[in-house]
Amino acid sequence: MEDQKYYLKHNVQIDPLFNNWYAYPQLISPATAAMHIANSHLKIMNSYVMSPDVHAAAVRNPAMRGGPFIDYQGKRVDEIKELMLKTQSKQAHMVELAEAIKSLNDLLVTEAKGYSIEALYPKVPKALRGYVELVYDLNHNPSFRLIEALLYKSEYYDPSSQSVILSLVESDDRPFAYSTPRLEEEGRLQLNIAFSHPGIDELFKMREVPQTFGYIKEALGLENGQEAIFAKFLTEATPPKTPKYQGDSVRIRYFGHACVLIETKDVSVLTDPVISYYYANDDENRYTYADLPENIDYVVITHSHADHLMFESLLQLRHKIKNIVVPRNGGGSLEDPSLKLVLQNTGFKNVIEVDELDSIAVEGGSIDAVPFLGEHADLNIRTKTAYLVRLGGKQALFMADSNNLEFMVYDHIHRLYGDVDVLFIGMECDGAPLTWIYGSLFSRPIDRKMDRSRRLSGSDFESALDIVNRLNCKKAYVYAMGQEPWLCYLTSIKYTNESRPIVESDKLVEACKQQGTFCERLYGSKEIAV
Ligand SMILES: [Fe+2]
Ligand SMILES: [Fe+2]
Repeated sequence: MEDQKYYLKHNVQIDPLFNNWYAYPQLISPATAAMHIANSHLKIMNSYVMSPDVHAAAVRNPAMRGGPFIDYQGKRVDEIKELMLKTQSKQAHMVELAEAIKSLNDLLVTEAKGYSIEALYPKVPKALRGYVELVYDLNHNPSFRLIEALLYKSEYYDPSSQSVILSLVESDDRPFAYSTPRLEEEGRLQLNIAFSHPGIDELFKMREVPQTFGYIKEALGLENGQEAIFAKFLTEATPPKTPKYQGDSVRIRYFGHACVLIETKDVSVLTDPVISYYYANDDENRYTYADLPENIDYVVITHSHADHLMFESLLQLRHKIKNIVVPRNGGGSLEDPSLKLVLQNTGFKNVIEVDELDSIAVEGGSIDAVPFLGEHADLNIRTKTAYLVRLGGKQALFMADSNNLEFMVYDHIHRLYGDVDVLFIGMECDGAPLTWIYGSLFSRPIDRKMDRSRRLSGSDFESALDIVNRLNCKKAYVYAMGQEPWLCYLTSIKYTNESRPIVESDKLVEACKQQGTFCERLYGSKEIAV
């Protein structure tokens, strides 16, 4: 029995958590995490404890989908209260940090009037002393730069706030992830380990390479009471092996949303990994973890939104990722945390930061970082890039949620790189308002009209067609629409034929057809000939 080797079942799900809330990049970076604890998590839990029925009614209302409401049907109030009290006490220093950020903003508004800022250093709130530089821009607007790397080396980055839940999933049907903290459920195993724990890699290697129970028990540090439930995640059945791609040309496979695998026989590149689990008796058209190669040479991340940098998929792939490429941040503003630090502090090795027009040489071609405009509510966020993957003499451009706010940019891109063979463009043109992702970071309330005018919108029909034509694209694919059923728990998107992203992308497909450019809106999975 002890020598028996087991594989990990293909439908073992991992939920990465921070204080029991589903984790995304802003919950890793210390300053943004503090703002989310103080301005979102604690407020939502308090609201649930005060009025659980209001939350239950809101969750049932489709118009409120994705809103800040806890989905426990008005029940389990005592457990939410317990989590709230535990968070208040364990994260008291984070709440203090959030208050310090607010106080520092107030200080700068009232006292920094364009004259020397040096005298304000002693007035910086205690929690932030030594972690900020005070600055003006060229219009004498004061602000501060966070010394983010130092914050990661302080009490404000505490990996013991991270944990993971392992469970078996039988379908895509999962509740919306972001507004309900996880409580104990039968059949789920919560492990109080940080995302960087090497046992996570050992676990997911077992999808392909079997190990003994004793080996993985030790690697994950399982306790005796956890063995019985953990055993249910293992199987003796040998999984089918994915053959390595050996073709002479480039092969492109769409895995859903913004996730695309580009391969030659020498190199593999995976964009924005969000991978579906495998279910037996499933008739949905999908690729899963089992369809990925043994090693992924380059994972490339376009931006920090949670449907593009998704820990749930990345943790399962970490052991097979040789390099992970991220856009460089602007250097210290609260709204633009470093993705390099996020990934390095969660156990990823070989993180490569790129700036606009940087080029990474790969065997048989290159990966080039190309400007990504818009989709961030007009905030000065630099952690966003499109990628031009040049392999086998072909050029495939992955633009994620880029919005064509300035057509001249695409003329410049065309002048530098020439015609694009295959374009991938997102068209979520009805983006969420500013506060949906960034609301917790503001120190003052935001005018409702302002909030609605500044959205996270991708390209509409006119923007997208203009890009297709300025880059002289031979083929165009609409992707990153958040439609795949295995993503609804993250995107909460349920389009109808009348939804504007569908109407606008239908118009693009039709207009391209009229002018003789191949165009298709992707859904599910697809192998694309180049
Ligand atoms: Fe986005
Ligand atoms: Fe997106």
